[in-house]
Amino acid sequence: MADFQVSIVLALAPTAAFKAVVENLRTALARSGLVFEAGPQGHLTEGPHRIGKVTGWTQGKGLSLEWSAPPWDPGRPSTVELRFRAVKGGTRVTLTHRGWGRAVGGGGKAELAGWFAGEVMAPLLTATAPAALGDWITDRRARRPWGAEARATYGDPIFHYPGFRVMLDELALRTDDYLVEVACGGGAMLKLALKSGCRAAAIDHSPEMVRVATEANQDAVAAGRLEVREGDATSLPWPDATFTCAAMTGVLGFLSDPVRVLAEIRRVLKSGGRAVVMGTDPEMRGTPAAPEPIASRLRFYDSAALEALGRKAGFGEVKVVRRDMEQYARDAGVPEFALPLFKAGKDGGARFLLARKG
Ligand SMILES: C[S@@+](CC[C@H](N)C(=O)[O-])C[C@H]1O[C@@H](n2cnc3c(N)ncnc32)[C@H](O)[C@@H]1O
Repeated sequence: MADFQVSIVLALAPTAAFKAVVENLRTALARSGLVFEAGPQGHLTEGPHRIGKVTGWTQGKGLSLEWSAPPWDPGRPSTVELRFRAVKGGTRVTLTHRGWGRAVGGGGKAELAGWFAGEVMAPLLTATAPAALGDWITDRRARRPWGAEARATYGDPIFHYPGFRVMLDELALRTDDYLVEVACGGGAMLKLALKSGCRAAAIDHSPEMVRVATEANQDAVAAGRLEVREGDATSLPWPDATFTCAAMTGVLGFLSDPVRVLAEIRRVLKSGGRAVVMGTDPEMRGTPAAPEPIASRLRFYDSAALEALGRKAGFGEVKVVRRDMEQYARDAGVPEFALPLFKAGKDGGARFLLARKG
């Protein structure tokens, strides 16, 4: 039976590397349907099957798992070891899987080569090639954020506050309003919105963002003034005519079917309900607001295209306004060096779609 090994040097101390790798491994495995209960008594399950059991766990040093043989070829379990070793410049992290491979089967010895090339090497090389790496960076940072850095960024997104302030000015929330925020990220705008005394609900498809938004607004959640749901913007989990107003920011350009999302927002608004959506301006392309590789995965809308989205979604009144956000940025405490990014260009400032349900 074969052994295989992958390793990388991370510019982190062993304890930090251990924490970061274990957390990210748990999240990534969960996406593939594997549940990793991390810790000295931990285990790994796939549906109803236990496929791995933690047999060693030393914080900052390593862990080992006994990996069950597959049910169709019961035999000796193999072992997975994850080691963290301090080296010059950081920590070498090494994953070794020992004694695995018999169950690949087939008469010829090339079967294991086929499995290794196809299931380990090719995904690994694909992940490091530009297209998949660009997608990973886009998802991790913005399209479906996760990880410690994303949690910190969206918990307090300093460069988004100017936009939030414009939107809140436009919404002019009152205590009797019921706001829905679509793609709420870490809930920073909800926090500001709730100061008006309104009630709110929000949705995001990133489980980590839902957690951050819920924790950031836990008093409002506990008081029954806010619910934050995990889900997709194309199918909002609320009945028709629930809300008096809606907000969506930082996501329009990522949506593959923006009209469907806007139509969903319209559906859950009461008659006369108002919506404010921050645009994805073509002028943002390549700036710190939309750098590569994210920029080439975004759709940008000029004023006419943005207005057309609102009309196609069925809103009665639709207009696009442009706002110089420099003063909003100053008021929000954006650092001086970044203020020029918020200043209106020659042909106008940032675009916002204002729509009302007829
Ligand atoms: C760039 S972040 C902006 C977050 C927040 N609105 C802000 O401005 O700080 C984009 C957010 O949209 C969410 N998102 C993207 N596509 C979504 C979809 N189809 N349904 C629900 N949430 C989505 C992401 O998970 C992420 O939290």
